[in-house]
Amino acid sequence: MGYCIGFAGKGGTGKTTIAGFLVRYLVEKGKTPVLAVDADANTNLNEVLGLELETTLSDAREEMKEKAPSLGMTKDIFIEMKINEALAESKGFDLIAMGKPEGPGCYCAANALLTEFLQKLVRNYPYVVIDNEAGMEHISRLRARDMDMLILVSDPTIRGVQAASRISELAKKLNFGIKDYYLILNRVKKKENQDTLLEEIKKAKLNLVGMITEDPLIQEFDIQGKPLIQLPEDSSALREAYAIFDEVIK
Ligand SMILES: Nc1ncnc2c1ncn2[C@@H]1O[C@H](COP(=O)(O)OP(=O)(O)OP(=O)(O)O)[C@@H](O)[C@H]1O
Ligand SMILES: [Mg+2]
Repeated sequence: MGYCIGFAGKGGTGKTTIAGFLVRYLVEKGKTPVLAVDADANTNLNEVLGLELETTLSDAREEMKEKAPSLGMTKDIFIEMKINEALAESKGFDLIAMGKPEGPGCYCAANALLTEFLQKLVRNYPYVVIDNEAGMEHISRLRARDMDMLILVSDPTIRGVQAASRISELAKKLNFGIKDYYLILNRVKKKENQDTLLEEIKKAKLNLVGMITEDPLIQEFDIQGKPLIQLPEDSSALREAYAIFDEVIK
């Protein structure tokens, strides 16, 4: 079973960016193949990773809804084929995107089949990195088996830390069985006074594992639309992220 590392936190704090860095780190460490899962309805991990996506799993689910009556016994083969279609392959890692969540009129059979095949898929990878969307209700849809480690990402603001705190409280209450929780402060400015913030983190009993500074190289890449996975090794954000991964990845 793949070791699953999920990211969560307030909007725009850098979850997708750091998830992308982790994929690169695991590939460089030879912990391959890595499965990257984009669980954000607004699919964009592929842009960080520099990959084209043909379809998402929600496309597969919708297609299955339409075609289910005529599929008969071939539903399994159909969904397996669709998952393979949705899987984008790269050197050392694959990427799959969940797409939009189920709308009204749940078609549970398609969902159940998808879940079953996803669980099978995850077994083929020693490491799975899950990029989640911002907010709380998404986290309540996750299940215990989905994650071994949850990395909360916050910007250097009280609101960001409080959001991280609420998410970790909820995940603990829902008893997901996540073994390790960590907090990363991202987009930290070097000269900022963080006393109040550190106090809040302590109060919330969050396990701060490291900070990543605001990196002008990332902004340059963003302006040019270049995949962040291609950042040069001397990018400060990339180096700081790697130092954190050295701490938490066994
Ligand atoms: N350390 C950093 N230095 C500079 N820019 C950064 C840094 N980390 C992230 N960014 C930029 O901040 C923006 C938001 O990052 P990202 O998309 O990773 O956040 P997110 O938490 O995934 O957002 P969302 O909640 O919308 O999914 C992006 O433009 C990204 O390039
Ligand atoms: Mg994101």
